[in-house]
Amino acid sequence: MASQLSLLILMLFLFNLASIHVTGDQIMLEDGYMVSTVFDGHKLNINPYAVQLRSSDLVVLDSSHSVFYTLPFPISQDSVMVNRLSGEGKNGYTDGEPGLARFNKPKSFAVDLRGNVYVADQLNHVVRKISNSGVTSTIVGNSSRTGRQDGPGETATFSGDFEVLFVPQICALLISDHGNQLLRQIDLKPEDCAFGPQSVLGAVKFWVLGLALSCLLGIVIGIATRPYVVPHTGRFQTPSSQQDMEALPNQSGESSTDELLRRQKRIS
Ligand SMILES: *[C@@H]1O[C@H](CO)[C@@H](O)[C@H](O)[C@H]1NC(C)=O
Repeated sequence: MASQLSLLILMLFLFNLASIHVTGDQIMLEDGYMVSTVFDGHKLNINPYAVQLRSSDLVVLDSSHSVFYTLPFPISQDSVMVNRLSGEGKNGYTDGEPGLARFNKPKSFAVDLRGNVYVADQLNHVVRKISNSGVTSTIVGNSSRTGRQDGPGETATFSGDFEVLFVPQICALLISDHGNQLLRQIDLKPEDCAFGPQSVLGAVKFWVLGLALSCLLGIVIGIATRPYVVPHTGRFQTPSSQQDMEALPNQSGESSTDELLRRQKRIS
């Protein structure tokens, strides 16, 4: 079995070697890759500069117009629903609602696990955050000056040339500050690194479900062991214990008493 597997791996390896053509000047062209256009920005006057996946949509940055768009993902070839995430369409520096916010030709952004977008607004020398709801705020940096000062909020300064990366493992942004020849870190809030927009609610639901399941398991075990504990009654299940089990909330959280009534009606 193991030798068959290694033979297969060897064959795959040889196959891959065979599909790399060495052309002149040491260019190695590997077969099996193809390019196709999935979105053409000409009609809508959108100029995609950078793109990131955000759960079920793509965030597209049009740097020249300073606007962020979202496109449903995967992109359907027939009709593409483009939504403006943030950016008035003019260069500048304004926080706020999607239609009011202005950026200054940003070129780099990152998306956290909640779907917040962090913008390296390098010509404003600040890092901005577009929340899930589309509202833009400034999180660090001073737009009035460049520099390499570390610290919170407005006390921090950046060069006019930097990029941003989200690192979920440390719940932080990493900034490659080209102009200062530095790698810098911005620690995010714990909720920015929780998975999904309703993760807190999700965690509570998960906990309640776990509790309900363990109760149910306890009752089932109780019922199953009951005939052995009370061997002389001659009854294997008492009606009250059956009702207890049936009245427990089911997985979707709603009581199954209605279902029990329906079942009783069907029986009668
Ligand atoms: C931002 O920079 C300006 C100009 O240098 C300075 O006057 C101001 O104090 C700075 N703001 C903060 C919060 O450091």
